[in-house]
Amino acid sequence: MFKIISNKELAPNIFEMTVEHPRLAMKAQPGHFVIVMPDESGERIPLTIADFDRQAGTITLVIMAIGASTMKLVSLQSGSSLYALIGPLGIASEIENYGAVVMVAGGVGIAPVFPIARALKERGNRVISIQGARNESLLFWTDKLSSVSDEHIITTDDGSAGRKALVTEPLKELLENEGNKIGCAYMIGPAIMMKFCSQVVLPFGIKSIASLNSIMIDGTGMCGGCRVKVGKETKFTCVDGPEFNAVEIDWDLLLSRQKTYCEEEKCSLNRYKSVVS
Ligand code: FES
Repeated sequence: MFKIISNKELAPNIFEMTVEHPRLAMKAQPGHFVIVMPDESGERIPLTIADFDRQAGTITLVIMAIGASTMKLVSLQSGSSLYALIGPLGIASEIENYGAVVMVAGGVGIAPVFPIARALKERGNRVISIQGARNESLLFWTDKLSSVSDEHIITTDDGSAGRKALVTEPLKELLENEGNKIGCAYMIGPAIMMKFCSQVVLPFGIKSIASLNSIMIDGTGMCGGCRVKVGKETKFTCVDGPEFNAVEIDWDLLLSRQKTYCEEEKCSLNRYKSVVS
C-alpha cells in the first residue's frame, strides 16, 4: 500500500496527487510512467510521473478525472493509500544538450513536459516553453514551468490568459525567427495539437518528439490499445515509448483509434456514477 501524501484539485477535474514511494522516487526519470490501481478491483491506470522528490521519497501524478477509474482514483483522500503503484516504466527521455529547446505543453501535457524541461535546463539548454489551454481556469503549474524556462509563453483559445492563440502560432514564429538555434522541439498534449505542432516543425528539419502517454490503456503491452504507426513500423507506446519522432507518427490513424473505446468508456462512467450517486 502506498500512502497518499496530498491530493488537490488544480483545475476543474484535474488533480495533483503526491504519493510516498521512496524506491520509485529514487529511480524515476523524466519520461517515465507508473501504473496505479486505486483498489483491488480497480482498473490499471497508466500515469506519467509528473514530478519526483528523491529526498522526500515521493512522486507526483497529475490526473484528469474523465472516466470511472480516474474518478475513483481522485476521490481518494490524503492519508489513504493506493492499492498498487508500479514503476518506473517506459523509456526515459533522452536528455541532451541541444543548445536551445522548445517545449510545447497543451492542457495536462504540462505534467510530462515539466520534468523533461527541468532536466533539459539542468543539462544546460536554453528552454523556451509554450503552454496552452482552452481558457485560464484550465491552466496550472505555470509557475513550475516558468521556473525551469528561459522564456515562457502562455496561450489560451479564448484569450482569458496570455496570448489569444493556439500553441502552433508562437511555435511557428519562434521557429521562423530562431529555428537555426533550436535543436529539439517537444510537443505533449492532445493528439490533435501534437499533429498540428509536428506539421509546423516538419519544414524546419529539427528533432521533434511527441509523447503519447495519454493513449495508453493498461500500460502492459498486452491490450494493444496504444499501437501506433511510426514511419514504417508499428510500435507500442507503453513498451517502445512513450516518446516518438513526432513527424513520423501517423496522426490520422492514431486519432481514429482514439475513438475505438468511446462507447465502452461512456458505459463504464455511467455505471460508476449510478453506483456513487
Ligand atoms: S497500453 Fe495496452 S498495450 Fe500498451
